[in-house]
Amino acid sequence: MIKSAHHNQDDIADGTGQPAADEYIAPVPRISVQAFCESETIFDLAKAASQDRRLAKAHMTVKKGGVAAAVETYNAMPTPNVIILESTGRDILDGLDELAGVCDPGTRVVVIGSEQDEVPYRELVRRGVNDYIVGPIEILDIVRAICNLFSASEAVVTGRIIAVIGAKGGVGASTVAHNVAWTIARDLALDSVVIDLDMAFGTASLDYNQDPLQNIANAVFQPERPDTALMERLLAKCSEHLSLLAAPATLDRVYDFGAEAFDAIFDTMRMTTPCIVLDIPHQWSAWTRRTLISADDILVVAEPDLANLRNTKNLMSVLKAARPNDRPPLYCINQVGMHKRPEIDVKSFAKTIESAPVAAIPFDSKVFGMAANNGQMIAELSKSHRASVIFQQIARQLTGRAEPRKSRFRLSPMLERLRGKPKRSAAGGM
Ligand SMILES: Nc1ncnc2c1ncn2[C@@H]1O[C@H](COP(=O)(O)OP(=O)(O)O)[C@@H](O)[C@H]1O
Ligand SMILES: [Mg+2]
Repeated sequence: MIKSAHHNQDDIADGTGQPAADEYIAPVPRISVQAFCESETIFDLAKAASQDRRLAKAHMTVKKGGVAAAVETYNAMPTPNVIILESTGRDILDGLDELAGVCDPGTRVVVIGSEQDEVPYRELVRRGVNDYIVGPIEILDIVRAICNLFSASEAVVTGRIIAVIGAKGGVGASTVAHNVAWTIARDLALDSVVIDLDMAFGTASLDYNQDPLQNIANAVFQPERPDTALMERLLAKCSEHLSLLAAPATLDRVYDFGAEAFDAIFDTMRMTTPCIVLDIPHQWSAWTRRTLISADDILVVAEPDLANLRNTKNLMSVLKAARPNDRPPLYCINQVGMHKRPEIDVKSFAKTIESAPVAAIPFDSKVFGMAANNGQMIAELSKSHRASVIFQQIARQLTGRAEPRKSRFRLSPMLERLRGKPKRSAAGGM
């Protein structure tokens, strides 16, 4: 891996100790979900699941009482998009029969079983249950069950969003974002879009040597919801797999946004693009916070000094707390080894952050300066430059293609069941 005078290999995270990034659970649209829980444990887990970022748009309520309570509720009320029922045994079958009489046709049903109960899966399927999950249940199992009901049924690409932000201004967050996105598109051949969210001063169009006529302002300031056709028109093509949604980078207006200003843009982009890299300006506002929290992965870029250390620590802890079911944000240290500058070494930095950086990128004013002025990527100037190799490593980590990688072959749900390991299984398609 990376070697330099400032740190050794062990200081850099290799990704193997973290939750795998290759499982992607797409967030749900504005749906209603009601859970009926028999046990305190499932009640608490369902409550926690309802707080997950992927269910942020859903309206989810969690109640006590199992299928009987559900039947009683829906005698008087229309059914939501999804009903979750905790089962404690064969009673569930009678309950489901009763529920069928009051359930609207579009409603999907997920049953959470306990390990002891021996409810025949076939019988659940026969009653139209869409998914059956049995213990030991984790928060993410519930989130996954709900999300899968919606992502599997629609033939859309659900793009991953990678948010990049600097711990301070000028640390090179944009440079890292642009180089990593370029590498994801080139070396991993993944269709990618960079969205430059630094409205007033963004440099993505300079870095990619583009002069787009349209930019993100054409979407964010229009009153109608953007559709994929509009988004396609606003993109500038940088290379075979990479496009850019540029920032206006003009000062004829000010750029104050509400928390949800970019939601529709991101949602629309997700439908056509597997990988979306967000270049987020160094600021803490309602929309930057929301964008970071709802991203699939986060990369914080920091320089090795005290202010960066404090800010990285704060960002990591706030984002970790807001995303308890996700792998923690990743961070990298940039501009390491600047001549005569006192620096906090990688090891001490990592100790305070309580996790290792994904990379430490050397300071090289000549190559980075030339790249910036020419509108080129580092790898275009020098494929073998240490930074080029590091950008490839970051790209692999962020897309879940980190090496070395354990083979995580997953049996199909039916096969899993036959093997007697019914951990998580989807009975979709009824
Ligand atoms: N590793 C590096 N070595 C030398 N200069 C760098 C390095 N990384 C970034 N830079 C330079 O630092 C400046 C700020 O980078 P930029 O990506 O705009 O920062 P940010 O987005 O964090 O404000 C740019 O001129 C860029 O070329
Ligand atoms: Mg920037």
